[in-house]
Parts: sequence; structure tokens; C-alpha cells
Amino acid sequence: MNHQQYHNDTPGAANFIHLNNAGAALMPTPVIQAMEAHLQLELNNGGYEAAAMQRKAIDRFYPVLADLLQAQSHNIAFTASATDSYNRALSSILFKARDVILTTTNDYVSNQIAFLQLQQRFGVQLVRAENLPEGGVDPASVEKLIKLHHPQLVAVTHIPTNSGLIQPVEAIGELCQKYGCLYLVDACQSAGQLPLDVSALHCDFLTATFRKFLRGPRGSGFLFVSDRVLDEGLAPLFLDLHSATWPEADRYEPDATAKRFENWERAYALVLGAVASVDYALGVGLDEIAGAVQGHAAYLRQRFADSDNLKVLDKGKQLGGIVTLHLSGQQPARVKAGLRTASVNTSLVFRGSALIDFEEKGVDWALRLSPHYYNTVEELDMAVDKILALFG
Ligand SMILES: Cc1ncc(COP(=O)(O)O)c(C=O)c1O
Repeated sequence: MNHQQYHNDTPGAANFIHLNNAGAALMPTPVIQAMEAHLQLELNNGGYEAAAMQRKAIDRFYPVLADLLQAQSHNIAFTASATDSYNRALSSILFKARDVILTTTNDYVSNQIAFLQLQQRFGVQLVRAENLPEGGVDPASVEKLIKLHHPQLVAVTHIPTNSGLIQPVEAIGELCQKYGCLYLVDACQSAGQLPLDVSALHCDFLTATFRKFLRGPRGSGFLFVSDRVLDEGLAPLFLDLHSATWPEADRYEPDATAKRFENWERAYALVLGAVASVDYALGVGLDEIAGAVQGHAAYLRQRFADSDNLKVLDKGKQLGGIVTLHLSGQQPARVKAGLRTASVNTSLVFRGSALIDFEEKGVDWALRLSPHYYNTVEELDMAVDKILALFG
């Protein structure tokens, strides 16, 4: 891959080394242009009028996302964020007391909080599968727990926010299909980083955001829902005049498609930016992106391997684009600020976002480096040299 070519197409990359793509990636020029053009149209014509003028381009959202996920347009919904998608999905499931949600120790913090709320409000039970000694959830433990508890929902985060791990989401999907469980995949960190195929995943819901590895705008997300979900009539709390109709005074009808998981109002500049980001990712190629991101992350881990004061924390059979490091004896805020002053963007993960994982690893914070394909190897070397010089 010609990293430099994509680097040149990324205005922000001229100013600093951006290794915070797991937070929000830098947008490429076509994404920025799509949004600026739409804001200009709104300015000159009015918000509703601009949306009407761009209707065809806006409606491409559904087929373009379907291409990304190997799905169909009627299975796709636009949302404001991954968490928004997740909550809409969860709120559509008719949980009763003693229903079981089976998840992992590495599922995203907001998901875990939502499960605990369901536990408190409806008496849902939360069960977490065991991990393999080398890291990552053990599919044999998932199968054992499915047989024991017949969960109403199996929920797995594909790539946790707090480690380089890639979870075996396809193997778990096969188990969900075999035992008929609803399956929710949080693909927030994998969308735009790895190829995704919802039929190979056998998932009923897949949630993600555009601002991370997809390189789209903040404030936009998407949700995939399966035909099973649509056919069973699952719908989120609450619907509006876009996601349902009101044909009689005492009756409403949810939309037949995944649009029943949407709201009417949205920022169309963001929708158009999101479409441009997926067009761009598909143009680069998801297999190529996955190879480049994993190559960059492996290179970073290897460059830190010999340091006495820096410990690479990532564990798992398969590792992705998030590199987590513990820097002994350092103050996290000072580390991040020191790197920011040196024009290297990174992020921190604290114990509160990775309670079980960090407890096992014996750390209460980590420095997170998340390279993307538009980063060059020279940038990686400059960032590593800086980190080693300051803290190694
Ligand atoms: C794995 C994972 N899931 C969900 C989210 C939440 O995404 P959003 O902030 O778009 O709701 C994040 C954000 O970092 C994440 O890393």
C-alpha cells in the first residue's frame, strides 16, 4: 500500500502525527468536501430545501452501507453514534425477569452499564464468558453457557476499546445460529478497520460509528438489523413519525425496514460525510486496510518490545490496530500532554473503561496508540523515538 498517497489526501496529517484513530480518525478530503458543500447549500437555500436538492445523494446511505457489510439496504439504519445504535437495539428486545444476556469481560463500558441497567430494571441476568489463557473470549465457554442459560441475547464487542484484541465474532455467530440466540456485535472499532460480512457473522444487530476507522464525521453512526429482527416485529423504544406511521387514532405501524430504528431528524451534512467515508474506504479496499493497520500495529508493538519501562499489554490470538502500553512510574495526563506538545496525538484508557481487563493485567491506565493506513512508517518511527526518548 502507498501510505504516502493516502497521507497526502488527509489535510490534518500535515500538522501532526495522528495515532488516535481509535478515538476519531482524520477525515480525508472527499469527506470534508461533501460536508462543506452541503452546509453551503443549507446556507444558500434553507435546511429542508437543501435536503430535498440532495435527496439522491442522501439516499445512497443505505446501499453504500449495505455494500460495506454485505447486507441489503432495508437492513440499514442511520444513527447518531455507536452507543445510540446499541441502545436502540437493546431497547427493542422484550426482556423479562431472569432472561440472560451472555457477554464477555471485554465488552465496551457503556454496553456493560446498559446491561446492568437492564438487570436493575427488569431483573435480567448478566453472564460473562471465560477467556482463553492467551487472551480473548473462549468460544467453548460461550457454548457451555449458551447450553446452560439459553440466553435471550449474546453480545460481543469485536475489537475492545482497551486492547489490541480481535474477538472471534464469527465462531460465536455460528454458535448463536446453532442455538437460535439473538446476537449483537459491537463493531465500533472494527468498522473501517476490518472487512465485515453480516451473513458470515450471523448477527442480528451490528453497531458502529463513522468517526473512528471509517474516517467519517463525529456525530454519525449506523445500525444493521437482520431480517429475523424485522420479521419478529422488534422495534426500539420510542418510535417517531419517520420510524412509524399513525394510521388511526389508537394504532401505529412501525416501518417495515430498519428505518424503524431511526429518528426523523438528522444532520444531513454528516450523512453525506458518512457516505463519502464509506465510498473512500471501499475505494481503498477493506482487505488492504486491514493488512496495513495490522502491519503498523505489529510494527509498533515490536519497536516497544525491548523497553524496560514500557510494557505492551495486548493479548489475544489475533491482534488488531489498537496498541496499549503501560508506562511504569509515569503520570498518564503528563504522558499524553508531553506527546501532544511533540505533535503526536494519542489517547489514554483508564481502569473505569476496562475494569475487568485492567484488573487482570494489573494496571489502572494505558497509553493507546491506534495507527491507520494513512500513517506512514516514518511517522510511526518518529512517534516511537519520541516516546522512548521521553519515557523509555
Ligand atoms: C468498542 C466500542 N464500542 C462503542 C463505543 C462507543 O462509540 P460512540 O462514542 O460512537 O457511541 C466505542 C467508543 O470508543 C468503542 O470503542
